Amino acid sequence: MLPRPDIFDFEGISMIHYFTDNWEKVQSFQARPDDILIATYPKAGTTWVSYILDLLYFGQHSPERQTSLPIYERVPFLELTNPFLPSGTELADKLTTSPRLIKTHLPVQLVPKSFWEQNCRIVYVARNAKDNLVSYFHFDRMNMGQPEAGDWNSYVEKFMDGKIVFGPWYDHVNGWWEKKQRYSNLLYLFFEDLVEDTGRELERICSFLGLSTAVEEKERIREGVQFDTMKKNPMTNYSTVPVMDFKISPFMRKGRVGDWKNHFTVAQNEMFEEHYRRKMRNSTLAFRTEL
Ligand code: PPS
Repeated sequence: MLPRPDIFDFEGISMIHYFTDNWEKVQSFQARPDDILIATYPKAGTTWVSYILDLLYFGQHSPERQTSLPIYERVPFLELTNPFLPSGTELADKLTTSPRLIKTHLPVQLVPKSFWEQNCRIVYVARNAKDNLVSYFHFDRMNMGQPEAGDWNSYVEKFMDGKIVFGPWYDHVNGWWEKKQRYSNLLYLFFEDLVEDTGRELERICSFLGLSTAVEEKERIREGVQFDTMKKNPMTNYSTVPVMDFKISPFMRKGRVGDWKNHFTVAQNEMFEEHYRRKMRNSTLAFRTEL
């Protein structure tokens, strides 16, 4: 097993080498006009939305894709390089699908410029800070490709300081939100809305993408992307990834809104919210932390 990576400052955010080793190729990546970028802060619902888009475009025409290729090969993770897979840019270059679906966790200012030049469609997903933190904590515990999580208290501090991989949650969600006000090809979704009513959000996604998917097909997709179904599906549950230790925590962990209540103490919650108010003071973004 490889040692856990160190975290360092890179282009203004905290990073690990798995996301910076291929930096030149990432920055010079040639997007195509029909590429669709799925952008999120880590643990905000990337896999869920990737799978929804994959089913919308390819579920009917290439059913064999659904049983033979894990989601992280169908939707390459642009900035990733690791010893177990071709790099994200190589996987994306090899994709024969049209459109290509591409995943990134980059903050908006680091997205390769060709995506903007080609006016690509982008689906961004944001999740409330407290549940996002909890999900990231368990992910860092179980994923040997991430820095050690440390204990819960220190993780909360690290999250607030933005000293976790891909930098501060606050700047990420706000940076993309500001971009949305100027760039019309961006759909900004919330994890909480997806949990509340997946069918409604599926409609929004179809309308943004200009898809006229049949009602029965949309219903089939809605069923197929439910948490329990995706958790059982080896092509979407990440059980094929060697660096993840599901004995510590599964990738598909709970998929809920409000699990933060099982983690934060009352004092921690007050401290977090006070800090949150300061960080988000100038933002028009509003998140729900319970449904
Ligand atoms: S990653 O590693 O950044 O790509 O992770 P990401 O896919 O963004 O986020 C993982 C969390 O999303 C939850 N998830 C879902 N919740 C509800 N329904 C569905 N279908 C679903 N698919 C993924 C997953 O369980 C992780 O959240 P937690 O809270 O840890 O369970």
